[in-house]
Amino acid sequence: MAVQEQRANDSLEKYIAEVRAVWGDGKDPQLPFKVQALMEKLFASTSPDDPWMAELIRDGKPARELYRDPDHGFIQMGHIHKQGHGNQPHDHGPCWVVYGSYKGITEITKYKRTDDGSQPGVAALEKERLDRLSPGVVQPYLRGDIHSTKAVEGPGVVFRFLSYDLDKIERNRYNLEKGTIIKLTPQ
Ligand SMILES: [Fe+2]
Repeated sequence: MAVQEQRANDSLEKYIAEVRAVWGDGKDPQLPFKVQALMEKLFASTSPDDPWMAELIRDGKPARELYRDPDHGFIQMGHIHKQGHGNQPHDHGPCWVVYGSYKGITEITKYKRTDDGSQPGVAALEKERLDRLSPGVVQPYLRGDIHSTKAVEGPGVVFRFLSYDLDKIERNRYNLEKGTIIKLTPQ
């Protein structure tokens, strides 16, 4: 039987082909962990001198869309974060995300919500876990997981795999000090 050859020019293309191959209907609960393993493999097989990676680093853009899947809608982002770059606690609504550090150290705090969600605009958070993403470390955050990121040793080369376009879904941002929640609506 003829098998269609997957032509991969570089490790990024190979990784994307591998993600597509395991995607199925996109509903497998193991999928975030499969992508985690594939991203770890991508990092291990990519040299900073590989043309696509060298260009990403040289460009130094805070956010770059490296790939958007035309069939399944997942997105692979590449980020160059200056030391100290961080964001407020947020969730990705119904989507999941896989964060990976290729270079530098990014700390990701995971929070749990301690209120019952009955008061509109109010959310109390408690720190639950601190993940330290040193080079080569990849960590999935599942549906509804509240998290914030901080580049503690930069510049950080951070890969962020999104199961779907976040601008098209409803998600939340939180203010830890004020104890508030802001709904972000699809754009
Ligand atoms: Fe996030």
